[in-house]
Amino acid sequence: MKKSKIAGVGMYVPKNVFTNNDLTKYMDTNDEWIQERTGIKERRYADRIGETTTTMGVEAAKIAIERAGITAQDIDFIIFATLCPDYYFPGCGVLLQRAMQMKEIGALDIRNQCSGFVYALSVADQFIKTGMYKNILVVGSEKHSFGLDFSTRGRNVSVIFGDGAGAVVLQPTEDSNRCILSTHLHSNGTNAEILAMYNPGTHANHWLKEQTLADFDEAELGETFMSHSMIEKAQLFPFMDGPTVFKVAIDKFPAVIIEALEANNLQASAISLLVPHQANLRISQFVQKKLNLTDNQVKNNIQKYGNTTAASIPIALCEAWEEGRVKEGDLICLASFGSGFTWASALLRW
Ligand code: ACO
Repeated sequence: MKKSKIAGVGMYVPKNVFTNNDLTKYMDTNDEWIQERTGIKERRYADRIGETTTTMGVEAAKIAIERAGITAQDIDFIIFATLCPDYYFPGCGVLLQRAMQMKEIGALDIRNQCSGFVYALSVADQFIKTGMYKNILVVGSEKHSFGLDFSTRGRNVSVIFGDGAGAVVLQPTEDSNRCILSTHLHSNGTNAEILAMYNPGTHANHWLKEQTLADFDEAELGETFMSHSMIEKAQLFPFMDGPTVFKVAIDKFPAVIIEALEANNLQASAISLLVPHQANLRISQFVQKKLNLTDNQVKNNIQKYGNTTAASIPIALCEAWEEGRVKEGDLICLASFGSGFTWASALLRW
């Protein structure tokens, strides 16, 4: 049976650097609090008018396609993972197809937030293995800065997230030693509202009335798709119960990595590089300790870019590759955890 391999990887981050001190102009926060809790020193914000989630994805895709030694015309399927699409619909995949003047190929959007890239990679892997496609472009891109609450009210969420994009090209290979070895996908919707953006949506309070989210006025929430009241009460921003996310993340992250290792009869010590979703440096450090990995075995770059959700793994993978930390024959583990909750891993031999 055919396997798939990553033939090219690319990334794009906006030029605009926003430090923790820059955030203090808008909200009551400070560099010490942010670094201590999250490890983040700075993040990038897209140009408000000139850049979108899709245009950043295009920039990352161009590099991945060039490194794969092909052209945009060779791509035969697009998978685009994001939680902040340019439009509510249609998705970013078709906008990228148009922007890159690709053939009339299929374009699939994935909405699995922080796990979006690993989910997308897994879907691409299956299409390659069945022989359906030969050059699949997988993109993760986020323009978070457009939808965050930059007042003190939203500080527990807004200080964490940054903008950027990453992309890979997947191609078939006969070499079962240089390929994606396995992918593992999970979800549990019990905590769906713990890390979520409820509006605009069609929920009509169906789920939220069961919740005890003191920050929200249930009577106002969800009566319409969007209302003035939602704007006034800041209900068009993401909500996160950070401590609960932390607790579940430090359980599921190691579990899904161990699952991938066991499926391939490998030990954590065999990992050349773990590229975790850059959720929070404290979470990555916990995972590293739990698996007894050295600093050299883990890629962290949340310090520079913040949490870029679906883009964080391909950005970190690309940066590690450019630094020479991803070499032929290396065992690379990608792992994610995020809203839903969803969590996932992929083990690959580069
Ligand atoms: N600056 C200063 N003070 C702040 C800030 C801020 N940016 N945000 C919150 N605070 C204050 C709160 O108001 C609160 O003050 P109080 O005690 O006077 O009420 C205090 O800090 C503690 O607030 P908590 O929300 O309990 O903060 P906590 O110590 O739990 O840290 C954090 C928050 C960093 C989000 C933590 O819960 C965490 O690491 N959670 C994991 C979630 C995560 O990393 N999510 C990333 C995105 S999701 C993902 O990618 C999977």
